[in-house]
Parts: sequence; structure tokens; C-alpha cells
Amino acid sequence: MDKNSVSTINIIRPDDWHLHVRSGESLKSVVPFTARQCGRAIIMPNLTPPITTTQLARDYQQEVLNATPEPLKGTKKFQPLMTLYLTDNTTKEEIQEAYDSGIVFAVKLYPAGATTNSDAGVTDIKKCYPALEKMQLLGLPLLVHGEVTQSEIDIFDREKLFIDKVLNPLINDFPELKIVFEHITTADAADFVSEGSANIAATITAHHLLMNRNDMLVGGIKPHHYCLPVLKREQHRLALLQAASSDNIKFFMGTDSAPHSQNNKENSCGCAGMFTAFAAIELYAEAFEQAKALDQLEKFSSLNGPQFYGLDINTDTITLKRESWVVPEHYPLDDGYVIPLRAGQTIHWKIEI
Ligand code: NCD
Ligand code: ZN
Repeated sequence: MDKNSVSTINIIRPDDWHLHVRSGESLKSVVPFTARQCGRAIIMPNLTPPITTTQLARDYQQEVLNATPEPLKGTKKFQPLMTLYLTDNTTKEEIQEAYDSGIVFAVKLYPAGATTNSDAGVTDIKKCYPALEKMQLLGLPLLVHGEVTQSEIDIFDREKLFIDKVLNPLINDFPELKIVFEHITTADAADFVSEGSANIAATITAHHLLMNRNDMLVGGIKPHHYCLPVLKREQHRLALLQAASSDNIKFFMGTDSAPHSQNNKENSCGCAGMFTAFAAIELYAEAFEQAKALDQLEKFSSLNGPQFYGLDINTDTITLKRESWVVPEHYPLDDGYVIPLRAGQTIHWKIEI
């Protein structure tokens, strides 16, 4: 039978290697969506104030667990994997403590000013060399938001330039450092990772596999399709789809689901970020089906990530059914709403709970 005409898919439970769940009341709205689909999620540290210490990571992990529905809690169920927010002042002692804690799985590099809540981020990577040296030694991965931030650089070129200006020199100086190039959006980044050493991998979002910049700009501006790195040309989307569905084990699932309130998105200066966690694996299934590569979905969603992080794969499976359903117009968030990707439109796969 044609593998792409199947109506049911059974795969090892996925993990989300790049997720924003925010803090406070918002956690209760968004964490359950990921907890019902994924075994684990790498929780991004860009809160205000950011998660810069192991103690803050510990407290934040507890908050995330408190927002996880009871039946989904526990080692065999949903585990939030915490990250530290790298700053110019992160010490090697802090890195050692994070590693020893057993709850911090990576350190996130936000170039200062690159995206939401990145003001406390890194102004000059050289300032982080002591921390990076320690991470290289310990095998603690560096997760990078790969965009340069200089105001004169065109926003569509920022990822490509980051490769030349920051990533290449970094890899030169730290050849053994494990690096995840997060939410890649260009053919340049996909090629760079494919051709790089085994220490460099990448996450790819469902929205960058499904949409190009026309989906944000043609027929009226679509604030809910605005995220960072911004959607690119179709040729880049096709390259990402090719990379994600290839046999290369360096590409894995990271939704970058980034909920913002409706008010903050539908605004004269709208925030960057799309909310996709409510249907993460379903959206990826659509993308892989489009690429006639549904049989590659499990590697991308459930096998390649744990392999790179040196963790076991999840022990249970999920089932996806080919079934069309209409996405709600909004979901609650705090005392307002978040508008999900595809609000009021149809998704063609459904996870069985
Ligand atoms: C993210 C957010 O809102 O926290 N936004 C986004 O557009 N992806 C930050 C990020 O990952 O860049
Ligand atoms: Zn992100």
C-alpha cells in the first residue's frame, strides 16, 4: 500500500525540543496541550526576568509541573527539560551547577535584541567564552537563536549572516561544543547543518515547514503568521521540508510554539510568535504528508532529538488518525485569549488521546 495513503499512523511518542510556555496563569492554559502529546519538552528560558540560574530553573520547573494535569505528570509521562538563559555574565561555576542539577539540559543563546525578551541576552559572544568552554567540556548543548541583530541588516538575511559572522567562528573556537541551531528557516541553514560535524543539529518548526512569507503578507498582513525568525521564500520552505524528511539524523522537532495574547499580536507593534502546541504533531504530519514522507515523521519527531541529547527515546506510542477537524477561533490565555495557528480552519490529522 502507498505509505502516503494511510489513515492511521502509530509512532513513538514525540518530544518538543523548543517550546515557550510562559509563566504564571498562562502555564495552566498552554502546558496541558504539550503534556498530552509529548514525553518531554525543552522549556525556553526567555521570561521576564529570564531564567539565568539553576535555582530559577528549578523553581520554574516546579511551576511547569504544577500546571501539568495530574494524570500526565511523572517520569514516564511529561517531563519539562529546563534551560538556562545565557548572558554576558554567566559564569563557568553556574554552568557546572546547572549540569550537576540534572534538570538543566541546555543553555540558550539569544543575541541581545533578536527576539521576544532577549534584552538581557548576549551582546558579544566572546564574553561567554568561559561558560562555553565549560559547556564543551561537560557536553551541555548550546541552543542558538541564529540571527544577527544589527539594525542595518535586512531581516530576511539575518539568519544567513549569523552563520558566517557568529556560528562559523564559534565552531572554529569550540569544535566539540554541541550546538542546536534553533528554528532554522533557510536553505543556507539547512545546508550548513547537513554538512557540519556531528556536534551540530537543528530544530525545525511546523509553521516553517507549512508556510512561506506570502502567508504573512499577501492579501493583508497576518499578525498571527508573524514570528522570528520570520517566514521566508518558498524555496527555503522546500529546503526545510527536504531536510526534515531526509535520512539525516541532525534535524528534529521543535515547535517554537510561542503564545502571545490576542491583544499583543493584533497591535500596531505586534509580538513575534505563533501558537501551535495545541496541534503540534498533527501540523507536522500535514507537512510530512505534503512531502510524501509520512514514514520519516517518527525519526524527526521522536528519535533524532533524544539521540542528539544523549537521552533514551520515549517508551510508549501515539496514534494519529486522518480526520479533519476545525481549529477553535481562540483558546483561553490568562484573562484573555491566544489565537491558534489555523484558527477557524481545518487540520487534517488528529491525535487519539
Ligand atoms: C518567541 C517568543 O515569543 O518567545 N517568538 C518567536 O517568534 N519565535 C521567541 C523566539 O523563539 O524567537
Ligand atoms: Zn523560541
